[in-house]
Amino acid sequence: MIKLRINGRERSFDGDPETPLLWYLRDELDMTGTKFGCGAGHCGASTVHRNGEAIRSCSTPMRDLAGKTVTTIEGLSPNNSHPLQIAWMHANVPQCGYCQTGQIMQAAALLKKNHNPSDKDIDDAMSGNICRCGTYQRIRSAIKAAAKDTAKAGGIA
Ligand code: FES
Repeated sequence: MIKLRINGRERSFDGDPETPLLWYLRDELDMTGTKFGCGAGHCGASTVHRNGEAIRSCSTPMRDLAGKTVTTIEGLSPNNSHPLQIAWMHANVPQCGYCQTGQIMQAAALLKKNHNPSDKDIDDAMSGNICRCGTYQRIRSAIKAAAKDTAKAGGIA
């Protein structure tokens, strides 16, 4: 039995410990905000947080999550009020939208560590998150806007 906390709620997983976290999220918990992309951890579509760090849920087995805290896009904020979610809406970032939850979760992990990221910081942090629609410029603008709003508000959640 693997016990972990997902979006603030205790969970117990008693399946195959090699099961990827993404399978558990989508198929058992019905949290479908996190997406399957390449399935090998290279595209970033399945990004969630483990103890605040961005990880690829498609290639993280459940055995690596015992006692950990996981946050998915569903748990990033109670009502889509995270500064990144607001900035994403204002900048109309998504096109097809498929990659965007992974992009936001990756960006949220960046802003937790770096409240005023440069273009290079953003490029370095986001380089593993692929967008086939090419929304990279708007992603960068939204991250900068969120960082500015966060600084005005005195910190990030
Ligand atoms: S918005 Fe379509 S893949 Fe990124």
